[in-house]
Amino acid sequence: MPIRINGTEADLPADPRVSLLDLLRETLDLHGTKKGCNQGACGACTVLVDGERILSCLALAVQYEGRDVTTIEGLTGEGGMHPLQHAFIEHDGLQCGYCTPGQICSALGLFAEMARGAPSMVTADLSAETITLTPDELRERMSGNLCRCGAHNGIVAAIAETYAAGRAA
Ligand code: FES
Ligand code: FES
Repeated sequence: MPIRINGTEADLPADPRVSLLDLLRETLDLHGTKKGCNQGACGACTVLVDGERILSCLALAVQYEGRDVTTIEGLTGEGGMHPLQHAFIEHDGLQCGYCTPGQICSALGLFAEMARGAPSMVTADLSAETITLTPDELRERMSGNLCRCGAHNGIVAAIAETYAAGRAA
C-alpha cells in the first residue's frame, strides 16, 4: 500500500532506512518541510499524519504506509492560503521563514489536540472537559518548534488569533 502525501499516492522507498523527511525532500521534491537538526530537537520538519503532528526526521517513511501525510504544500487549497498562513504574515510571525512550515503544521496539530481535549504539561485540571488555550498552554504546546530568528511573539500572536477566530480547521 502506498503512502498518501497531500492527497496524492506516492511509492514508499525500497530502503527502509529512509526517513519520511528525506522521502519528502529528496524523492518527492517537497522542499517546504525543512531539515534543521535532523535529530528531533527543532521542529522544522513537523508534518501532519492523519491530523497529528510528528517530526518527520525521526520517522521512517515505511512506517507510514497507507497513512495520510499533510505538508505545508498541502495546506493551500482553491481558496488560497490557510488562514493561519495569513495570520503569520499579518503578525510578522517569521523572518527567514525556515522554521515557518514546521511552526504552521505544528500549530494545526495543536488545534486538533485542543479539540479532543488532550492535556499538556501545564494543564492544571486533567479532568476538565475543555481546555482553554491560555498563553502558557500555547507556549508549552509550541515549545518543540524553535525559531532562531526570534519571531516567537509574532508566532504566538498568529496562532492565538487564528484559534480564537475558530479558523483552525
Ligand atoms: S529537523 Fe526534525 S526536529 Fe529538527
Ligand atoms: S523565521 Fe527564521 S528560524 Fe524562524
